[in-house]
Amino acid sequence: MKPTAMRRNRFFPVISGAVLGAVLVLGCAGKTEGEPREVSVELCDGETTLALAKRPETRAEGQVAADAMMASWRKKNPAGDWEQDVRSRHWLAPMHDNSDVLAAGQRDEHPGRFFSERDLLVWKRETETLVAAGARIFHSGDELGSTIAVSCDMCHPDAANTHPETYPKYQTQIGKSVLLRDMINWCLQHPVRAEPLAENDPRMRALEAYLYAQRSGTPLAYGKH
Ligand code: HEC
Repeated sequence: MKPTAMRRNRFFPVISGAVLGAVLVLGCAGKTEGEPREVSVELCDGETTLALAKRPETRAEGQVAADAMMASWRKKNPAGDWEQDVRSRHWLAPMHDNSDVLAAGQRDEHPGRFFSERDLLVWKRETETLVAAGARIFHSGDELGSTIAVSCDMCHPDAANTHPETYPKYQTQIGKSVLLRDMINWCLQHPVRAEPLAENDPRMRALEAYLYAQRSGTPLAYGKH
């Protein structure tokens, strides 16, 4: 909360510490205004407002107010676990099981490093999230920017026939040896009718991640037709 904003608010001196605490717990600026009896509290999104019949005075009452504010914000912004949604709708190849990394003697193989269960969990969650984002984009004409509502899965179900393990390879339609991302862009521009993605575009990175992940276990065979 900016001190200047607080000073400008004529009700600030009488706001209970409890409400202030609740708003601060939300980690961003909130502002409080209203008639002396009814208090109107605004969440940090600048849109969600809640009218409190009574000014909270204890921490517990402040928590009730904060919970009500968050509940009304969540109603407008359903948490929508997109990753869960992607997983329930699409087949994703399982990630490599790294549990052997925790075996005794890991220090010999990885000098100076001791990996923990937590490390493995972070690797798995982060990697699977990137792959799931790729699956989401692959299946969404909108996210791909298709001007004809076409998505990759319509021709490559579960990423079939994308053969990421064969890159780099000569592609006749492009007329040179290319990387996987070049072929992704070729399909984006032609069958999908979208703008090509910049090499570092998060969507390109996620698509690459998904295509490679789906072929887990397939030996690399660059140049293969
Ligand atoms: C209308 C059908 C269609 C759509 C939609 C489509 N593709 Fe393709 N794609 C093809 C065909 C056909 C080929 C084979 C071209 C060739 O290798 O001669 C191909 C080839 C590829 C290849 C290279 C395969 C290989 O064997 O080297 C990749 C990678 C690929 N597509 C990815 C994508 C991605 C990513 C999308 C979505 C952005 C997409 N495709 C959308 C039809 C489609």
